[in-house]
Amino acid sequence: MSSPETSQQLDPRPDPRSTAGQLAGLHARADGAVRAADERAAAKQHPRGKKTARERIAALVDEDSFVERGGLVRSRATAFGMAAKHVDGDGVVTGYATVDGRPVCVYAQDFTAFGGSLGEEHGAKIAELQDFAATTGCPVVGINDGGGARIQEGVASLVQYARIFRRNVHASGVVPQISLILGPSAGGAVYSPALTDITVMVEETSHMFVTGPDVIRTVTGEDVGFEELGGGRTHATRSGVAHHLAESEDDAIEYVRELLSFLPSNNLSEAPLLPPEDERDLLVDEDDLVLDTIVPDSANQPYDMAAVIGAVLDDEVFLQVHELFAPNVLTGFGRVEGRPVGVVANQPQQLAGTLDIDASEKAARFVRLCDAFNVPVLTFVDVPGFLPGTDQEWNGIIRRGAKLLYAYAEATVPLVTVITRKAYGGAYIVMGSKEMGADVCLAWPSAQIAVMGAQGAVNILQRNALKAAAENGEDVEATRRDLVDDYELQLANPYVAAERGFVDAVIAPSQTRVQVARALRALATKRATLPAKKHGNIPL
Ligand code: HXC
Repeated sequence: MSSPETSQQLDPRPDPRSTAGQLAGLHARADGAVRAADERAAAKQHPRGKKTARERIAALVDEDSFVERGGLVRSRATAFGMAAKHVDGDGVVTGYATVDGRPVCVYAQDFTAFGGSLGEEHGAKIAELQDFAATTGCPVVGINDGGGARIQEGVASLVQYARIFRRNVHASGVVPQISLILGPSAGGAVYSPALTDITVMVEETSHMFVTGPDVIRTVTGEDVGFEELGGGRTHATRSGVAHHLAESEDDAIEYVRELLSFLPSNNLSEAPLLPPEDERDLLVDEDDLVLDTIVPDSANQPYDMAAVIGAVLDDEVFLQVHELFAPNVLTGFGRVEGRPVGVVANQPQQLAGTLDIDASEKAARFVRLCDAFNVPVLTFVDVPGFLPGTDQEWNGIIRRGAKLLYAYAEATVPLVTVITRKAYGGAYIVMGSKEMGADVCLAWPSAQIAVMGAQGAVNILQRNALKAAAENGEDVEATRRDLVDDYELQLANPYVAAERGFVDAVIAPSQTRVQVARALRALATKRATLPAKKHGNIPL
């Protein structure tokens, strides 16, 4: 009698009604759906410097952790010769896996199948994955590389976008949603990434636009190429659509893996604690002393706020979000004693650290991301005010700047604020001030907390004194200097605010890391709720 292996070897095509035949049929299908399809895809993608859908997923998730769903789903469309072109999976790979041992749901569009376009089944697979993620409470990473709605499938394709958008919105603030754009994302399809928390693009290979260069040329006569119109750099620097500009697909995927490490799986859980490599005591050490000399004597001289942030965060790791957009405010994630924190900080090196429309919206969105996912917000303030100008006023700094107020005021996560230097006027109030909800507000001795800077204040308050000095033939500039000195000594310091309790403590800069860590320890158990309501009406 021959062994089962021998009989299988002798009979390469076992009876499909037998168990062996059914197993062989499964292997053949899987081989066609995965290996053969991937080989075909690789032949098209690799010459363009792009990975296949499954290679991208493999690079993102833990080794051998990906479980595919719907790999054998096929389109039912027949018009325009579609019946002959059906592919297993309908142009999108979907499933669940782990990243650093934590669950994620992931989908990746396959540009080599109908240009990654979204057909009825393709869209239904994504929507089903979104439901799976929302009910199990795990993040969704969407890898986009497609030409939008599948033209041959018409409205059956279009409506899938509605299903996806609706799920994006319902999952917002429930599970983190991250979009990787690794090819085109065209037409209304861009609105799914736009509804997610973070969008990552790659220099030169990813493009996002609602209407493409051809349509623009026809309608407006403007001549613009893909890269300039909707390339990664455009969206990372000008429009703010992209939160990170990666140099390559690998860089983009690495960014997403790191980002996920700062976020909880869902709004009901906490992000994991990762102890720092360099464990430091809660005592001021040598490295902290660098902060005691970082603020220049001249109030008009800039310094790098990123250096302040680095000195406070574990291992100096600061993962910026929106690094190239509105660089006058810095936003990003780091850890303090292993606990993730979101950092918002004015950057005096850019536009003197003023708040403009883009900076306000950037910071507001980031504060809301942190608040939605239980990540404390650490704010560093050095802000001379809102950026003046008709451009800002006419483009809506009033309603758009209000978003940042709204974001801080509705945040219930721990809020710790450190005022390093200027904290003037409305911008001081906006930037996580105590009365806007900061739980702990610290100030350096260099802090100047006032309605406005000394020069401006003297020009308004001492107009008559300056006029009289000029009329009496006195040295006007010397008079102005005296008045400015007097104002700075009287009002532009942290002590007036500290006397009234608007600042909890004035600390040496070198104490910042220790005091922030102590505050976050104390606030780890913070519980706060807002009045029950359907939802607020954030100024949009
Ligand atoms: C069906 C599509 C397709 C689509 C591309 N293909 N887009 N098939 N539906 N939407 C197919 C092409 O016919 C081609 O098939 C293959 O994908 C590769 O496309 P190419 O054009 O050769 O590639 P490339 O030069 O790299 O250009 C990629 C592209 C371009 C920029 C995405 O194809 C393009 O502009 N496509 C149309 C984009 C678009 O306008 N989509 C509709 C948006 S409206 P073959 O067989 O030749 O390989 C929308 C509404 C959403 O999405 C609703 C939400 C509100």
